[in-house]
Amino acid sequence: MLLEYIIKKMTRKKVGNVKFSRNMPEIPNGKDEIGLYIHIPFCKVPCPFCAYIRYPWNPKLERPYVGAVKKEIDLYLERLGDVRINSIYVGGGTPTIMPRGVADILKHTEETFDVSSDIGVESNPDDLNEKTLELLLDAGVSKLSMGVQSFSDEILKAIGRRSHDAKQSLHAIELVMDNGGFDTFSIDLMFSLPTQTLAGLKKDLEITIEKGVPQVATYPLLLFPYCKMYRDEKEGKLRLPGEKAEKQMYDTIVDSFTEADYEPCSVWSFVKKGRDKYGSVERDEYIGIGAGAISSVNQYFYANTASIEEYIRTVGQGDLPITIGAEFQPEGVAAKWLSISLYEMEFDKREFKKRFGMDVDEKFKSFLRWLKLFGIIKVEGDHVRVTRKGMYPIHLMTKTFLLTFIAKACIACMENPKPIVTKEPSRASAILNRY
Ligand SMILES: C[S@@+](CC[C@H](N)C(=O)[O-])C[C@H]1O[C@@H](n2cnc3c(N)ncnc32)[C@H](O)[C@@H]1O
Ligand code: SF4
Repeated sequence: MLLEYIIKKMTRKKVGNVKFSRNMPEIPNGKDEIGLYIHIPFCKVPCPFCAYIRYPWNPKLERPYVGAVKKEIDLYLERLGDVRINSIYVGGGTPTIMPRGVADILKHTEETFDVSSDIGVESNPDDLNEKTLELLLDAGVSKLSMGVQSFSDEILKAIGRRSHDAKQSLHAIELVMDNGGFDTFSIDLMFSLPTQTLAGLKKDLEITIEKGVPQVATYPLLLFPYCKMYRDEKEGKLRLPGEKAEKQMYDTIVDSFTEADYEPCSVWSFVKKGRDKYGSVERDEYIGIGAGAISSVNQYFYANTASIEEYIRTVGQGDLPITIGAEFQPEGVAAKWLSISLYEMEFDKREFKKRFGMDVDEKFKSFLRWLKLFGIIKVEGDHVRVTRKGMYPIHLMTKTFLLTFIAKACIACMENPKPIVTKEPSRASAILNRY
């Protein structure tokens, strides 16, 4: 209990004082390589728990949105120069709601940049059919992830997930696995959900393992202050399992996958031994394209406007649609790298030295000593690995980080729909009304 208290307090203190500003970040010219994250902020039926920037789907928006994304990619080409794209990840929202639009964006990206990477796409079970899989594979998609959340219809109902039922998820898993065209296939499960029991979670894990799904991401329910489910919880409308049950659930997840020959590739995801890992973006450096997309480059962390109208209008006039950002001190950049490494459960001290020109043991002396003392990490030479015992504390650290820093970034982004460069008057309504 003490350890858990310290972890949460320490994480809150470290990231709680990061300030978001309306200063334009410096877009780096001359980088050798960078990742691309492309955001598709539409869903058939938005879920009340979801923390991401997303809006109810309107097919009329597809053409102007795809056009704006392609234009933003061109704007970055002008600024980034001759850079190699080392990862492409299309997330949302629900990219598979518009598979043709996604294929069009990917084709444009490959025509614009030197791309040498796998392409990952997020999907919803109800969108997947032979035709959509074919479109994605033809567009070069090699990694597919799909949000299942739970195989229980009761739980799907309790979390307000109305776009599909458990049967559709099972069907979609079979479809993707029979197709066999993707190098990696991962599903998302959630835990610590309203009305969920340990027995219910075990059933979800058994089905996942029995189906032989190659990779699984397991997310604890995160209640962000701007989501409907957060308000429901505050009003006492939800029956949540609570912290003690969440720890039991987490331990059950780790033990079940370990026994079934999966290995952790982060504290929240597990891959079948011998299979490729599915990662969202290439480590810590990526450019976010699309409304509400987040970027992380050099010392900058910044977000695009969450407003679809402002997004389309701003890129249409040739400006980047950035609305808020934070600039880290060198120590903050190094701390960010270390946190991601701990989340991914391992790192090499030499890599830290190469990137930051100093020894990790010197820079984070007391923190690393403390992690070792509590048995959270094990150090062998230059290799540092999170232990089995350390997984739950790192899970808590990640959860607190998301609920503090990312929540703050999303709120700032939503509160500032006007991009930094805004020039009046807005032509957004006129643009949208044409489609
Ligand atoms: C961007 S969403 C996934 C894409 C797709 N629209 C879907 O729902 O299947 C990525 C994953 O984040 C997880 N997620 C979303 N909101 C969450 C929250 N508040 N707490 C925990 N996990 C969440 C869900 O597991 C979801 O599948
Ligand atoms: S969880 Fe997926 S489907 Fe639900 S609102 Fe979020 S992005 Fe959309």
